[in-house]
Amino acid sequence: KRILLLNGPNLNLLGRREPTHYGQTSLAEIEHSLQTMAASWGWELACYQSNHEGDLIDLIHQAMDFVDLIIINPGAYTHTSIALRDAFSGTAIPFIEVHLSNIHSREEFRHRSMLAPLAIGQISGFGAHSYTLALEAARNYLESR
Ligand code: DQA
Repeated sequence: KRILLLNGPNLNLLGRREPTHYGQTSLAEIEHSLQTMAASWGWELACYQSNHEGDLIDLIHQAMDFVDLIIINPGAYTHTSIALRDAFSGTAIPFIEVHLSNIHSREEFRHRSMLAPLAIGQISGFGAHSYTLALEAARNYLESR
């Protein structure tokens, strides 16, 4: 299987950014451990991070014919981006939404996700482990279809 891991704005700062919310692990470390996990199943995992909404949309479009599932942490675009949501509805690529922090226990403006209604599911609140859980969920989803 082919999986795309997308990370949105400010997630390049992971490990240095508000560690009480987002932990000490860097994005490179997260990507590396997911790649190791995917490879152990014979799966391919491509990883991208962008601070630009349009770049993320382009990556989703390009993935349309190549990728079985997307794991995405859309960062703050979670709460604002109708365009990202439309990219998922337009391509119909199954996806899992991931957050390091529990967005439901934080400020009110983080409670709503524009994407979650279209997602297979949302994983939120487990720090870097949220990504590992998402990859496990992806395996379960793709192998039970
Ligand atoms: C986040 C939660 C968002 O509200 C925030 O804007 C982020 C990170 C998380 O992983 O917990 O950038 O998606």
